[in-house]
Amino acid sequence: MNNLVVGIDIGTTKVCTIVADVRPEDIFIVGAGIEPCRGMKKGVVNDVAALTAAISASVHKAERASGYDISRAFVSVAGNHAASINSRGVIGIPNARGVRSDDVDKAIENARSIAIPHNREVLHVIPRAYSVDGHEHVRSPIGMHGFRLEVEVHIITVASTSVANLEQAVEAAGVIPDRFILNPLASGDAVLTEQEREMGVVVIDIGGGTTDLAIFIEGTVWHSAVIAVGGDLMTNDITHWMHVPFDVAEAVKVQHGCALESMVSPLETFLVQPFGEGMPTEVHRSELAMVMEARVTELFEMVQTEVKRSGYDGLLRAGAVITGGCAQLPGIREIAQKILNCPVRIAKPEKLTGMADALRSPSFSTSVGLLRLGLQMDTAASITFSADNGAQLTVGNLIKGFFQRLLPDEDR
Ligand SMILES: Nc1ncnc2c1ncn2[C@@H]1O[C@H](COP(=O)(O)OP(=O)(O)OP(=O)(O)O)[C@@H](O)[C@H]1O
Ligand SMILES: [Mg+2]
Repeated sequence: MNNLVVGIDIGTTKVCTIVADVRPEDIFIVGAGIEPCRGMKKGVVNDVAALTAAISASVHKAERASGYDISRAFVSVAGNHAASINSRGVIGIPNARGVRSDDVDKAIENARSIAIPHNREVLHVIPRAYSVDGHEHVRSPIGMHGFRLEVEVHIITVASTSVANLEQAVEAAGVIPDRFILNPLASGDAVLTEQEREMGVVVIDIGGGTTDLAIFIEGTVWHSAVIAVGGDLMTNDITHWMHVPFDVAEAVKVQHGCALESMVSPLETFLVQPFGEGMPTEVHRSELAMVMEARVTELFEMVQTEVKRSGYDGLLRAGAVITGGCAQLPGIREIAQKILNCPVRIAKPEKLTGMADALRSPSFSTSVGLLRLGLQMDTAASITFSADNGAQLTVGNLIKGFFQRLLPDEDR
C-alpha cells in the first residue's frame, strides 16, 4: 500500500471516516466507519461535545474495520459562511529565463494577498489558469520563457470560528486535522468526469443540512458556494404537515418521497402513525410529493440564483451533476432539469474497490472525494514548501510520511 489516506466527512446527518489506499486507477477502501452525527446544524457546529462523541465513534469504527490507528486525517468543512472569490497575481521573470516552480509560488502568493476580514481565513487557493507574456490558457507554465507570469486563482475563505470549532471537536476525538477541505470540491473530485470538468459543469451535493455547489470549467474550479438548506428541511415540512416525529418523517421521505407530483399516481397511498392518534392514517403519496415538490423547487431556484450570481451560467456545457443523500429522491433529476434548464446527471462515487459496499451511494461523494483531493493538495503544498526553503521534499517522501501516519496495530 502506497498512498494510505484517512478522510473524515463531518456531515449534518452522519460522520464518515475512511481509511483507503488512493491509487491512480481506483480507491481501495481498507476500512470505513459510518455513524449518525450529532452536534451539527446546517453544516456548522452547534454542540462540540456531541460532535466529538460522534467523530470518536466513527473513527473507532474505521480503526476496527481497517486495523490501523488513526492519528491524522483530511476533514470536510461546509456551512454558508464559506465564500469564494477569484483573484490575479503577476510577477516579472528576470531575463525571460524559463519559469520555475518558485516563480509560480510567488505569483500565487501575489494573487493571494487580498484583504480579508480579520474574522475569516483562507481555506484554499486554487490556481485556475496561467498566462506567460499575455499568452493565455497556459496549463503549466514551468519551463516556458517569458518576462511576465500571471496566474488566476480561486480563493475560498471561511469563518475562522467555524473552523476552530470543527478543529476542536476533531482534536478532542484524538485526531489531528491535516487539512480542511470544502465539501463541494471533494464531491466534485469524487463524481465528475474529466470531460465534464473541461466542458463546464456545476456539481450540486444536496445533503441533510446544506447544499454544496462548485462550478468547474476548463478543468478547475471557478466558483464554489454552500447554501444552508438540505434534506432536513423537507423532513421538517413532513413533520409539520403530518404531525409525526422527525424520525418517522425521515422514514416517510426515504420510503415514499418524490420530488415531482406528476410522477405519482393519485391512487397510491401509505399508512403513518401521527402524534396522538390511535390508528394509523392513510396518506396519498401524491400529496406528499406536492409538499416535497414545493421545497425541492425552492432549493433549485436558490441553486439557479447562485449559479447566475457566479456569472458562469452560460459556460456550463456539461450541465449539472447532482449528488449527496438527497440525489436518491425520485424525480429530483426531472425537477432539476426543468428549473436549471440544462442536462442533469445523478452521481455517486465510482472506481471504489475493497470494503466499499457501504460507500457506493451519493451520500458518500464528499467522504470519498476528500481522499484523492487531500493527497493532491498535500503534494502541491509540500512542493511549494520545498521550493521556498530549498529542502528537497519529494513526493516519495511525502507518501512515506502518509504511511507513517498510519501504523498497523501490530507495529505500534
Ligand atoms: N433514499 C433517499 N431518498 C431521499 N432522501 C434521502 C435518501 N437517502 C438519504 N436521503 C436524505 O439525504 C440526506 C442526507 O444526505 P447526506 O448523507 O449527503 O448528508 P450529510 O453529508 O450528512 O449532510 P451535509 O452534507 O448537508 O452536512 C438526508 O436529508 C436524508 O433524508
Ligand atoms: Mg455531506
